[in-house]
Amino acid sequence: MITPGKTSPDENNPLESIEEWEEDVLRRYPETEGQAPTKSVFTDPNKKQEEFRDYASTTRDSVREFYRLNHKYQTVDFVKQKREQYLSLQKPKKSIWSALEYLNTLVDDSDPDTDLSQIDHLMQTAEAIRADGHPRWFVLAGLLHDVGKVLCLYGEPQWAVVGDTFPVGCAYSDKIVFAEFFADNPDSLVPEYQTKCGIYAEGCGFDNVLMSWGHDEYIYHATKDYLPLEAQYMLRYHSFYPAHREGEYTHLMDDQDREYFRWVNEFNPYDLYTKSSEPPNAKELRPYYEDLIAEFFPAEVAW
Ligand SMILES: [Fe+2]
Ligand SMILES: [Fe+2]
Repeated sequence: MITPGKTSPDENNPLESIEEWEEDVLRRYPETEGQAPTKSVFTDPNKKQEEFRDYASTTRDSVREFYRLNHKYQTVDFVKQKREQYLSLQKPKKSIWSALEYLNTLVDDSDPDTDLSQIDHLMQTAEAIRADGHPRWFVLAGLLHDVGKVLCLYGEPQWAVVGDTFPVGCAYSDKIVFAEFFADNPDSLVPEYQTKCGIYAEGCGFDNVLMSWGHDEYIYHATKDYLPLEAQYMLRYHSFYPAHREGEYTHLMDDQDREYFRWVNEFNPYDLYTKSSEPPNAKELRPYYEDLIAEFFPAEVAW
């Protein structure tokens, strides 16, 4: 079946589907009982160097190629251009639910074993948050966090939709997965961009930092006027693994980031560790989520 979001794999879209990136993140940050949120194959002192080498050597070629493109093409100029393209224009209005349904047309044709749709992943995340008794805005953040993947349907390549995010315009952390691929990024030849703080002032706050472009930034801007700050952090930084898992880029944080990043950490396990092959009953759950959406959003928002 050909779907609007199905452009892969090709030269610019090496992944079989964008889910392949998240599967790889899960491999990198496996669920471990009692694991502190910042522990990973990179930073956990209990994990040996070989384990990272093992991770790198067993990464699928498609995922490696995806990171190569992502690290090569996410430049300061590219991010500015995408922000201009998507954030400054007068956009048509639609309801949150129709945005979810639109996202659901992004079908993963590659894996016959997984029947989970985009809405299924979002509902699984939200349901796990709800089951743990968290506030309603937290459940809503679970439901919305990946809606920015509609960028795929707008024709953006995979490397501009998913992938671990990172600041552009300053030195790359060596804790970013496959950091060696930044050698091909033209920004690596711009001295101004390669100091520790680059074009930013120390402690300027992430709100003043240009993050690599992707689904996090897009959903944050589409929904920020309607959600509490905690939820805004969850949406905007949920793929910022170099910060929330590796503890990097603290020199760019301000007091607000230091206070609110704990919510990003709080959210991450629900994103990574709630995928089960049993799809949630979307039909049965829909009234609950329609009510939840109506509590925070007007009938239509600009997308
Ligand atoms: Fe995501
Ligand atoms: Fe997700």
